Amino acid sequence: MDEVISLFPTPFLRAPAALPPLLVQGLLEHFSAAALQENNASANLSHTRMLKPSDSPLLLDVASLITPKLTEFGALMFGERMGWSLKEMWVNVLDSGGRQAVHNHANSFISGVVYLTPTDESSRTVFMKSPGGHDFSFKNDHAGVVTGPFNADKWISPMPSLGDMVLFPSYLMHAVPPNAGARRITLAFNAIPLRLDSWGYTVGFSG
Ligand SMILES: [Fe+2]
Repeated sequence: MDEVISLFPTPFLRAPAALPPLLVQGLLEHFSAAALQENNASANLSHTRMLKPSDSPLLLDVASLITPKLTEFGALMFGERMGWSLKEMWVNVLDSGGRQAVHNHANSFISGVVYLTPTDESSRTVFMKSPGGHDFSFKNDHAGVVTGPFNADKWISPMPSLGDMVLFPSYLMHAVPPNAGARRITLAFNAIPLRLDSWGYTVGFSG
């Protein structure tokens, strides 16, 4: 029997209803009006300043719900359940027509998004393979090509519901295509492990 093995896959966690509706409502009421900082990717995208869990009891509630999931997800990335801390958090307000350019998150290990409003199909978060770009490239890309996990260069995440969360390694490139629907509001965040240890070579992090 032939077997195909998915070597070195990337973990991606979907947590349906990670935040309860009351907390989602509280976050929307408290933070969507504070999203006053423009984003250079689009005139229809704005975000709050960087927030810390200690900035609001609402964010402390978010941190207490998310942190156990960081520990589990971190165990997939680093092979050990260890202490994790949620550091920057920010709220993104993406109006109709707005988009977010391809990016990843520096100085972080796990990043995540919680969807605070319904999301239009057009503005589901898209994840990409690292583009490379230091050499000539060869592709087989045409109408007859069947796309699967080994030849795809992007993945459109499934339609989220209100309160759903996704977690992904911070190096993973992602973007939000132009929003053809109504205002879409998300809470994004970065997280770090307290310490990594490679046979006694340790490094500690603080947010
Ligand atoms: Fe992002």
